[in-house]
Amino acid sequence: MTHRSLQECVQNSECIRAAVLISGRGSNLKSLLVAQKNHAFARMKIVCVASNKPAAGGLEFARDYGIEVLAKSAADFATFAEFEHYLADELEQLGVQLIILAGYMRLIGSALLSRWSNAIVNIHPSLLPSFPGLHAQRQALEYGVRFSGCTIHFVDAGLDSGAIIAQRTVPVMPDDTELTLTERILHEEHALYRESLQLITEHPWQIQGRTVIFNP
Ligand code: GRF
Repeated sequence: MTHRSLQECVQNSECIRAAVLISGRGSNLKSLLVAQKNHAFARMKIVCVASNKPAAGGLEFARDYGIEVLAKSAADFATFAEFEHYLADELEQLGVQLIILAGYMRLIGSALLSRWSNAIVNIHPSLLPSFPGLHAQRQALEYGVRFSGCTIHFVDAGLDSGAIIAQRTVPVMPDDTELTLTERILHEEHALYRESLQLITEHPWQIQGRTVIFNP
């Protein structure tokens, strides 16, 4: 990438240009856009929202907030890898240094991972490494855990497997349904994503092994 990397920007206290990738309703996106409007991010600006699905409901929030939208259907490309190459080229043109996955329902491939090394983050509705993949809240209920929660992590080639930035727990109640547990976790997701993005864009960090270390 010709632009400065995420870590270089953080080290130099520069403003970081971010893109949010979504596939669906976009409540995390909306919460981040509200935070941005309220000046919550001192060193980060969401400049673009992209989706692999042009019908993703959350794209409306981006349009409402006047943010550039990339919404070509991945189905119009011969392969998903080709769609990712298109996306990577567009994000590079926009000078994006940080990619924020917010309900983006695809594994990230080499076109993005190679250009945004340790610069893609994801939110997952469980305490990883428990319950990766789809229907994390249902998996938690079926397992019978007493606590679940959400995780913000860097993205690698695996499924919800990168180094963990932050986690927050919520209790699982005896009468919980998938819906009530999902709502309880989602409430925490919105706050944790905002706080984690403030953390990684405003404070120098490094990854040692699997551990994200924030420098004093
Ligand atoms: C959230 O639960 C997030 O943790 C998961 O997908 C869901 C997206 O919800 N990765 P929304 O589109 O942000 O409302």
